[in-house]
Amino acid sequence: MKFIPYGRQTIDDKDIEAVSDVLRSDFITTGPKAKEFEDKICERCGCKFAAATSSGTAALHIASLSILKPFDKVLVTPNTFLSTVNSIVYAGGIPIFIDIDKEGNIDLDKCISVLEKDRMISALYGVHFSGNPLNQQKLAYIKKRFGILILEDCAHSLGAYDGKIKAGSCSNSDVSILSFHPVKHITTGEGGAVTTRKKRIYNKLLAFRNNGVVKNGFKNKDMAFDEKGNENPWYYEMQYNGLNYRITDIQCALGISQMDKLDSFLQKRRAIAKRYDEAFKECEIIKPLYQYKENSAYHLYVVRVDFSKLSITKAELFALAKENNIGLQVHYIPVNKQPYYKLRGYRNLGLENMEKYYSQAVSIPIYPLLREDEQEFVIETLKNIVRQNRS
Ligand SMILES: Cc1ncc(COP(=O)(O)O)c(C=O)c1O
Repeated sequence: MKFIPYGRQTIDDKDIEAVSDVLRSDFITTGPKAKEFEDKICERCGCKFAAATSSGTAALHIASLSILKPFDKVLVTPNTFLSTVNSIVYAGGIPIFIDIDKEGNIDLDKCISVLEKDRMISALYGVHFSGNPLNQQKLAYIKKRFGILILEDCAHSLGAYDGKIKAGSCSNSDVSILSFHPVKHITTGEGGAVTTRKKRIYNKLLAFRNNGVVKNGFKNKDMAFDEKGNENPWYYEMQYNGLNYRITDIQCALGISQMDKLDSFLQKRRAIAKRYDEAFKECEIIKPLYQYKENSAYHLYVVRVDFSKLSITKAELFALAKENNIGLQVHYIPVNKQPYYKLRGYRNLGLENMEKYYSQAVSIPIYPLLREDEQEFVIETLKNIVRQNRS
């Protein structure tokens, strides 16, 4: 059996053709494809504005620069990729880690109790972990009662929804971010986007993405216009300390072509998740993180493995799976346990659910190209490993 990774991209001839067309055209960056891709993101997520970026990390960076001020305190999940938390620090904010709930998402009830006690908290950053959307009713309640800023990290949840609310729509938040890394639902190689409904935030995102340069509202009137009131065509004005996080038209052509296939990709991911759920239903040791949910976008399929009933460690399980050509992964190492954060006082936070979750969590292969026979092989191999290594 060929190596089966935990995730991978799905690229077909149409994608290759779309990219080649751009390479043959006049614009390979900041041209018509970038705008078209952003329009598609808005349409798909049901939001007003989208700013596409060179990565999901870049999206988080400019989103944080656009909404936070130095020393803002921000509630954040420890169960995420580094950049969700790092982006708070880039903007001068202070992360406050909140424990997770049973499904791996930030515990919004705990957020409410912390917000009740500390009225100086400015924002909440939540991740729709594995594709399982955050509870929108609770987000709406938090927004209304505490009036704080909310960022939804939708890197895992393009195509997910809670009731009628789509991931990335910013119905109850100020900004959302997406990632188009190859293991995500659609890919642009590397890439990301920030979505928002607020024009004021959108304008800042555009400036931060483009070296802090604004397109209108110039402050240096004497330099921007000549004595007859004509705008000087060469003039540009920097009003923020921005970056170059623009995305190329080459990437966006791929993104547009991929977006057209999103529904079929989601269908495949959901079918795979359903089969895993069924396969592990009776298993005492391997349990799905949550029961099958039609509204999850299933970027990841995470199982909790009860190692207290096994004679092998997680590292040994990974090695045995690898011997069988199966790639496993862990999402995530608690971010607060990273040396960078430990050194800054986030050593022992008593995040009990996160600690327990981390000791058990294993991500198993899920991606649209995973064939049924390959999935069967993954299921049987994992069940055999567990059967043969009971303590
Ligand atoms: C939850 C989450 N946020 C942010 C990112 C960063 O995205 P990128 O890899 O596109 O920079 C990732 C990527 O793995 C992620 O999983």
